[in-house]
Amino acid sequence: MSKLGIGLLAVAGIMSHYASASDCTSSSAEVHWLGETPTYNAGVTFGLPWPQGKYQPGKTNFTVVGDAEEIQGLESWATGYWADGSLKWTGHAIAESDRIYDKYTVTASSLGCVNGSSPASGSSKSNNSIVVTDASDTVKVNTGEVTVTFPKKGSIIVGEIKMNNGKSVAANGRLVLHSQDSVPDDYDSRANSSVQYSNFKSQVEDVSINQTSVRTLVTVRGNHTVTDGADHDPWLPFVVRFYLYANSATIKVVHSLVFDGDEKDFITGLGIRFDVPLKGEEYYDRHVRFAGVDGGILNEAVQGITGLRRDPGQEVKTAQFEGRKLPATDTWDSRVTTRLKWIPTWADYSLSQLTADGFSLKKRTKAGQSWVKIPSGTRAEGLAYLGGATQGGLAVGLRDFWKRYPSGFDISNAASDTGEVTLWLYSPAADPLDLRPFHDGLGQDGYEDELDALEITYEDYEPGFNTPYGIARTSEVYLFAFDATPTSDKLSSLAAYINNPPVLVAEPKYIHETKALGEYWNLPDTTSEAASTLENHLNFIFEFYRDQIEQRRWYGFLDYGDFMHTYDTDRHTWRYDVGGYAWDNSELSPDLFFWLYFLRTGSKDAYRFAEALTRHTGEVDVYHIGDWKGLGTRHGVQHWADSAKQARISQPQYRKYFFYLSGGDERVGELLEELLDTDKTYGILDPQRKVRTDGWKPSPDSTVSFGLGTDWSGLAAGWLIEWERRGSRWEEARTKLNNTISGIANLTNGFVTGSGLYDPTTWTLGPPPADPDNLGNVSISHLNAVFGLPEVVSEAIAYFADDLPKGFKQDWLDYCYYYHASAAEQKTRYGQSFSKISLLQAHSRLAAYAAYETKNTSLALRAWKDFYDSDGLAPDAAWNSTRVNGSAVLVPVDEAAWLATNDIAQYGLAVIQNLAYVSDALADYQS
Ligand SMILES: *[C@@H]1O[C@H](CO)[C@@H](O)[C@H](O)[C@H]1NC(C)=O
Ligand SMILES: *[C@@H]1O[C@H](CO)[C@@H](O)[C@H](O)[C@H]1NC(C)=O
Ligand SMILES: *[C@@H]1O[C@H](CO)[C@@H](O)[C@H](O)[C@H]1NC(C)=O
Ligand SMILES: *[C@@H]1O[C@H](CO)[C@@H](O)[C@H](O)[C@H]1NC(C)=O
Ligand SMILES: *[C@@H]1O[C@H](CO)[C@@H](O)[C@H](O)[C@H]1NC(C)=O
Ligand SMILES: *[C@@H]1O[C@H](CO)[C@@H](O)[C@H](O)[C@H]1NC(C)=O
Repeated sequence: MSKLGIGLLAVAGIMSHYASASDCTSSSAEVHWLGETPTYNAGVTFGLPWPQGKYQPGKTNFTVVGDAEEIQGLESWATGYWADGSLKWTGHAIAESDRIYDKYTVTASSLGCVNGSSPASGSSKSNNSIVVTDASDTVKVNTGEVTVTFPKKGSIIVGEIKMNNGKSVAANGRLVLHSQDSVPDDYDSRANSSVQYSNFKSQVEDVSINQTSVRTLVTVRGNHTVTDGADHDPWLPFVVRFYLYANSATIKVVHSLVFDGDEKDFITGLGIRFDVPLKGEEYYDRHVRFAGVDGGILNEAVQGITGLRRDPGQEVKTAQFEGRKLPATDTWDSRVTTRLKWIPTWADYSLSQLTADGFSLKKRTKAGQSWVKIPSGTRAEGLAYLGGATQGGLAVGLRDFWKRYPSGFDISNAASDTGEVTLWLYSPAADPLDLRPFHDGLGQDGYEDELDALEITYEDYEPGFNTPYGIARTSEVYLFAFDATPTSDKLSSLAAYINNPPVLVAEPKYIHETKALGEYWNLPDTTSEAASTLENHLNFIFEFYRDQIEQRRWYGFLDYGDFMHTYDTDRHTWRYDVGGYAWDNSELSPDLFFWLYFLRTGSKDAYRFAEALTRHTGEVDVYHIGDWKGLGTRHGVQHWADSAKQARISQPQYRKYFFYLSGGDERVGELLEELLDTDKTYGILDPQRKVRTDGWKPSPDSTVSFGLGTDWSGLAAGWLIEWERRGSRWEEARTKLNNTISGIANLTNGFVTGSGLYDPTTWTLGPPPADPDNLGNVSISHLNAVFGLPEVVSEAIAYFADDLPKGFKQDWLDYCYYYHASAAEQKTRYGQSFSKISLLQAHSRLAAYAAYETKNTSLALRAWKDFYDSDGLAPDAAWNSTRVNGSAVLVPVDEAAWLATNDIAQYGLAVIQNLAYVSDALADYQS
């Protein structure tokens, strides 16, 4: 890896070339915690942008200062580069530390500054370093606090977690999976059902390490293989990433799973299980803890000595409640000690969060005996602990536990030598995960029927396309090792930690100045009343959607992160059950709006909102394997149901913000890589197949036809990001981007041509089938520019700079100008005027861009006119929400019946970009 700080030492030989003071470039960037400064930092990774041309990879030294104190052991690496090869984005990791500063200042210094402005270095602490041993059968990682082993083969993904004082606190970490091959239609039919059940365990196929002295990432890949029950092929490929930081006994785990089953594969339980050694620990010194609600903890011992008829003594009882080793039994009241054998041990506990609103909790003495209910609560915070007062134990946590229901925990065999903790990412106590289509096709026969049905439910149905094969889900899990049962206050703070893992982010102003995430946004503008009103509208939209997630319970294992597309004003509910109006699946780029909203405001809530959205849309709404790998699914009642499988939905641009801000989240990085093959899908599946009139048919190794808007913008974003990252295929990606850009520039009508013919072997783009001689096709779609095209094109133009193929920028400026120019102007320029022009408010930002680039003040005015006075959300819309309650609704809700997600997404992007490009003209327009 490019470890810049350290890599520098390796090139020390050429330092003399840069030693003169004039070669010294140095600057600082500040990062602060999202929200409040956390009370615990188990090690953190973050991203930072740098202006073009300033810092060179391998020739830059990074140091970090917390408040005014230099921190040892900043790990730095490159995650993105400018076209000239200079650093655009860096990832940084700092180790676990008790000293948590409010702000950290990262200073980059070029090689020439060696004796110059970089802060003085203290002595390096040797414990700030991870030791990795890569043997033939296992990988061993010693963080200074714990040593964790990862077997390279077999069913175990974590061999052992051992405290560095020698205590082994967890072993045999493995994935567990249950499935069944059918689901009885109703309770009556259970009597005659022949449901076949299968149990599976993980089968490790590959373990890789990415080591630095501050942070080590161990990536374990494999499948689930059957252990008992009905036979089944290995399936559900997984990637589990373990992040270990120096000085830390906390492990962050990112668990990703791809669904590769069929209609007969119902997942009924999906979990991660650890053994917890308890041998030698007295039953009354074994502790069980579950996080409950608002910092609450269930405090229990396997053998409770409180509440008994005879009292062992207050000191004894308090020690047990607090999780400390009990005093020697000869200090207790002997009426208790002689009767310990009559006090039951509770070996098994089970917590099930089957909805977002409530969890149940129960325990039993052993299998075969009745469960006893434990008074429970609403939203469990998702942390469980099993361990002993003298031997320590393991706490396991799932971020967003209740939001991702059905989730759960089992603690088992706690009265034996080896207890078990299981975290259920999908609880076996719930109904099976049912991914079958929600309707039977309704007799639709052929494209004609399908298009007709689209007219009524707006669902674009096609048999065989409503398949979940290839969708994925990623979960964030935390492991905490303890050498003694921790206090419940500690566990309570960890429950808060896993649900709000600390994030370091740069200041909006700094990110903006570097231009590393585009130039199409600026800081909130309150310089005029009109601008302030627009800002208020953006705030309204964000807060409304944030609150709707809660009010409408947009939660669940696969659903959390998404929101809905359109509202049903009669029923006061979002159209969760109407064909194409339900889950939004990134329609019209809300992902872009919400990320830009965060970039401008730095709002903590906006970051969490956008992060959950990215984790959802990038995984569940997109295919990760199979023929449609790289395509996403259009909005609908189920995330995978609609037959429109398109690049516009998997748009890599939607992942870009989180990827760089997070310091290069490896899972998102992998998703970006997967999307590099999206161009291959066009040879298999024609997105235009139901409406195509030119007779063109796809075939795998020949030229394919795709749109210059919704299709090319997704492909181009993927290529640009790969080039920017200098990923393993960056030269290929750059060539494809460069070639297709040249191809568009070469078309007589540029973007107005509408589509082109792409050659997947030469990676070139020519005129579309409708205009083989490139005489000048005119084909406009209102959708072209609402799935990331303006953002991707403006970033590409800036990235190529002087190397941009000739004519391309003009083609884009023309598209921006002519989209809503007068019919006469369109006719003069293209020989005909445009029909089917809509989404004018959305397109006002194209005019704003062109106005800014060409310094055209009348175009700037037109941008504002299109924004305020065309379609979309009007200035005199209500801009408020209304409470609906009583018998009109199931639960009281706020509604804003005047908006839909398409509107807010494009309105938001238009406001942000118009203010960034033509805010000066706003006052003129108003007057
Ligand atoms: C290790 O991680 C860094 C940073 O994400 C990346 O640049 C590098 O390619 C990785 N190395 C390997 C061997 O995967
Ligand atoms: C990088 O910065 C650290 C901390 O100031 C310093 O100790 C080290 O000498 C620098 N390395 C180089 C090669 O400039
Ligand atoms: C899972 O199994 C499939 C089929 O045997 C194989 O192609 C794939 O490489 C495996 N995946 C992983 C991550 O090991
Ligand atoms: C783009 O392609 C042209 C023509 O082949 C070439 O001259 C130019 O260097 C390429 N630009 C980049 C950035 O690769
Ligand atoms: C541009 O068009 C000309 C003529 O149609 C063709 O010869 C040339 O290869 C095209 N260039 C690109 C980059 O597509
Ligand atoms: C919302 O705005 C509309 C239109 O301005 C107004 O009539 C209505 O009273 C407002 N409702 C609330 C609850 O503020």
